[in-house]
Amino acid sequence: MKLDGARVLVVGATGTLGGALAAELAGRGARLTLAGRDPARLVRAAGAYPGTPAVVFDAYDPESCARAVHGAAAGMGGLDAVVTAFGAVAFGPANEVGDEIAEHLMAVNVLAPVAFFRAALTVMEPGSTIAALTGVVAERPQPRMADYSASKAALSAWLGAVRRETRAHGIHVLDIRPGHLDTGFADRAVAGTAPPMPPGGDPLRVVAAVADAMEADAELLRSAADGTPVVERRAR
Ligand SMILES: NC(=O)c1ccc[n+]([C@@H]2O[C@H](COP(=O)([O-])OP(=O)(O)OC[C@H]3O[C@@H](n4cnc5c(N)ncnc54)[C@H](OP(=O)(O)O)[C@@H]3O)[C@@H](O)[C@H]2O)c1
Repeated sequence: MKLDGARVLVVGATGTLGGALAAELAGRGARLTLAGRDPARLVRAAGAYPGTPAVVFDAYDPESCARAVHGAAAGMGGLDAVVTAFGAVAFGPANEVGDEIAEHLMAVNVLAPVAFFRAALTVMEPGSTIAALTGVVAERPQPRMADYSASKAALSAWLGAVRRETRAHGIHVLDIRPGHLDTGFADRAVAGTAPPMPPGGDPLRVVAAVADAMEADAELLRSAADGTPVVERRAR
């Protein structure tokens, strides 16, 4: 897709990656609508782009996710891409992470992004893109992150199936699976404490690669062993 002039909904624009991605896309000429859960943080994020609409959603309310999509499409006269860049993480041994936390991760990391994409697929034209931040844990589940890994693998599986459904209709599906990045995400866990991790990769490098991947209609972005973002045109 051509990002210059593209109408893009960035969901989770209040986060480090979502905010950086909004800046990258705007820098490439995209028209944005920003979505987030917190009205005050969202207004601050949208303030960087005068005239950019901002919509609030609640991850536990799929209708609110669909409304955000329809509102964005109505406001921009169509929708060429939806990117979800929000999520939650929890750490700890599987037997200590409670059912409530596991349910939270599934609601926020799977059901909410899926609600955005489901609505987007009803309004998108051929040539459009849906893209989601999953993470390397989707393919390499990590100890003390069983529920987080499972949630990202579930979202990745959903994207993989939908990609096969929509290829014939010209809708592109991008799965963004970076390794650990220096955003502070791990320090904002909803439960538990992050295990020691190597220094995170550069978020700005990843968002530039996400924009490249969108422009190339690529299906997968992953991190090489040294952290370099790698864009793969076709997911295997
Ligand atoms: N950082 C990494 O190492 C890494 C690696 C691979 C994948 N990812 C994925 O990238 C995404 C963004 O992470 P980040 O690194 O940018 O972290 P971040 O700065 O903490 O951003 C997290 C975003 O998720 C939103 N969020 C959290 N809980 C939510 C909820 N219950 N409902 C709605 N929104 C919620 C936050 O909203 P508020 O601003 O309102 O808190 C924020 O916009 C996540 O899905 C994460 O799994 C991160």
